[in-house]
Amino acid sequence: MNESFSGTPRSMILHRNRMKRGALRRRARDISVVLVVLVCATVVIWTWDRTPTSAFLPPESHFLKLETEEKVERIPTALNTFVTKDSYSSATPFVNKEESEENLTDNRDTEEEGKRVKEVTVGEKNQGKTLTTEENRLEPVEREVTVSEPNYRRTPTSEEKKLEQVKHEVAIGETEATKKTHIKETNSNPESKSLATDEERTLPAKEDDGSTSTPRNTNQACNYAKGKWVVDNHRPLYSGSQCKQWLASMWACRLMQRTDFAFERLRWQPKDCSMEDFEGSKFLRRMRNKTLAFVGDSLGRQQFQSMMCMITGGKERLDVRDVGPEFGFITPEGRARPGGWAYRFPETNTTVLYHWSSTLCDIEPLNISDPATEHAMHLDRPPAFLRKYLHKISVLVMNTGHHWNRGKLNGNRWVMHVNGVPNTNKKLAALGNAKNFTIHSTVSWVSSQLPLHPGLKAFYRSLSPRHFVGGEWNTGGSCNNTTPMSIGKEVLQEESSDFSAGHAVKGTGVKLLDITALSHIRDEGHISRFSISASRGVQDCLHWCLPGVPDTWNEILLAMM
Ligand SMILES: *[C@@H]1O[C@H](CO)[C@@H](O)[C@H](O)[C@H]1NC(C)=O
Ligand SMILES: *[C@@H]1O[C@H](CO)[C@@H](O)[C@H](O)[C@H]1NC(C)=O
Ligand SMILES: *[C@@H]1O[C@H](CO)[C@@H](O)[C@H](O)[C@H]1NC(C)=O
Ligand SMILES: *[C@@H]1O[C@H](CO)[C@@H](O)[C@H](O)[C@H]1NC(C)=O
Ligand SMILES: *[C@@H]1O[C@H](CO)[C@@H](O)[C@H](O)[C@H]1NC(C)=O
Ligand SMILES: *[C@@H]1O[C@H](CO)[C@@H](O)[C@H](O)[C@H]1NC(C)=O
Repeated sequence: MNESFSGTPRSMILHRNRMKRGALRRRARDISVVLVVLVCATVVIWTWDRTPTSAFLPPESHFLKLETEEKVERIPTALNTFVTKDSYSSATPFVNKEESEENLTDNRDTEEEGKRVKEVTVGEKNQGKTLTTEENRLEPVEREVTVSEPNYRRTPTSEEKKLEQVKHEVAIGETEATKKTHIKETNSNPESKSLATDEERTLPAKEDDGSTSTPRNTNQACNYAKGKWVVDNHRPLYSGSQCKQWLASMWACRLMQRTDFAFERLRWQPKDCSMEDFEGSKFLRRMRNKTLAFVGDSLGRQQFQSMMCMITGGKERLDVRDVGPEFGFITPEGRARPGGWAYRFPETNTTVLYHWSSTLCDIEPLNISDPATEHAMHLDRPPAFLRKYLHKISVLVMNTGHHWNRGKLNGNRWVMHVNGVPNTNKKLAALGNAKNFTIHSTVSWVSSQLPLHPGLKAFYRSLSPRHFVGGEWNTGGSCNNTTPMSIGKEVLQEESSDFSAGHAVKGTGVKLLDITALSHIRDEGHISRFSISASRGVQDCLHWCLPGVPDTWNEILLAMM
């Protein structure tokens, strides 16, 4: 306790203190408890009010000033200066004009990547195997930053405090169920209205605590999209500072200035059914001689990297083979990266791959010999990669969503085509409709292929929500919240918040990996204002920190496989 009672002889104080030490300690403890409760309550109220969220953030001076690190999505942009012959990532300069002529509901403009500077670097070229020059350059910084990172399985004091705070807030949240002002603030999400509040329902007899690892056969009917987030000290499943072999540093928030990591410790607990704990070895055994393929945009790539880290537990695996060429993933001359990555685990002959297809439809240059050619964007044709390699895939996970905006279409010189000719249907030309049409087309094509590939399981992953508040990525939009479960912690709705995806899979053999609503209540899990390069003023409220929310998508995927 504080001994500086001024004006009193020090010896007397010491004496008195000795006499009353026990009583004082007890009182001090009481006072501490009250203080902690008060502070927590204040924090919660602040969060609801959304005003002084900056109180959670480290001072600006903590920012590391690093060189701009290219983000993966910048690379296709960078390619614009080169001849691009491949359709999959043919990209021309991104037009930083974000006013869309369309008034879209579920597809507001501008994926994060749009902001990237046009600059060619090699950082992402060799994801996996070898450290790139970029990574080497960042080595010292990474080391510097990771010093403070604890053993991820152990909980350091500060982490514990944060976690205690989270638990406390959850407790408070449960009694204050209806104060969901945040949902209003992010009400551009169509699902807002149907998001569950925190009100605890009386659950039928046994609520699964998810701790069991006994496989169940009764989970076929489980709707994994329903459930709640719970704090779990056995999370995360891998270390964000150690999984360098598979995890791009631009998504590894452990390598950034971020100091709060409560978001890493949440586990999704489906309602009324169990979800096995993810184990890499178990996954590999189930996937013996099989191939898991992610096909989609950068959010699909996040899920792929998450999966690689989950399987390996973030450990370096020099025996894992790069089998990209088997799937046409070779880096063409003058390009920064291939159209995807494929890795094989030798012990079970399991392949995990990602193919970049931001729109999930076929994109084809109209004039191969013209570097500035326009591209036909065949809304009714699945990506060429799928047509070519579907027979080699055992589990397919598709996604699209954030590339359907005018800026991207114009910038990439994509021209909508239907039936092989330029689209003349005005209604279809509206981006929201075009996207919906493509999702339906591709899903239905994949479904039609299922009988030809009896071993194939196909999933469409619903839209990953964005959380820009007060603007877009380029107009000061932010996602500063760092307190988990501020929006809510539970999802009880039956239908997906991604109407288009939910509609597209109906009546098909393609399953919906519905992650929209459960991710929507994780606004604190984005990269936010942090980055390896600290590009001031611009936030990434689209991509997620890893480890983080996409890990849960993979756990659900495994449960549904
Ligand atoms: C889009 O919305 C704005 C106002 O929000 C309106 O003025 C404009 O006409 C709309 N454009 C279209 C194409 O509907
Ligand atoms: C995996 O493939 C090998 C070689 O084709 C075969 O011997 C083995 O039985 C297969 N295992 C499974 C589980 O299919
Ligand atoms: C690995 O699995 C593939 C099927 O995905 C199979 O064709 C191949 O024979 C297997 N190789 C070995 C060495 O088991
Ligand atoms: C294709 O592009 C090349 C190079 O710009 C040009 O010479 C040629 O005329 C174009 N072909 C057609 C059919 O437009
Ligand atoms: C999406 O497309 C499908 C099939 O073309 C159509 O039935 C559905 O009404 C469309 N949904 C929206 C919201 O446009
Ligand atoms: C989030 O933080 C940034 C940077 O500190 C600040 O400019 C912005 O106003 C904050 N946004 C909100 C909604 O508090």
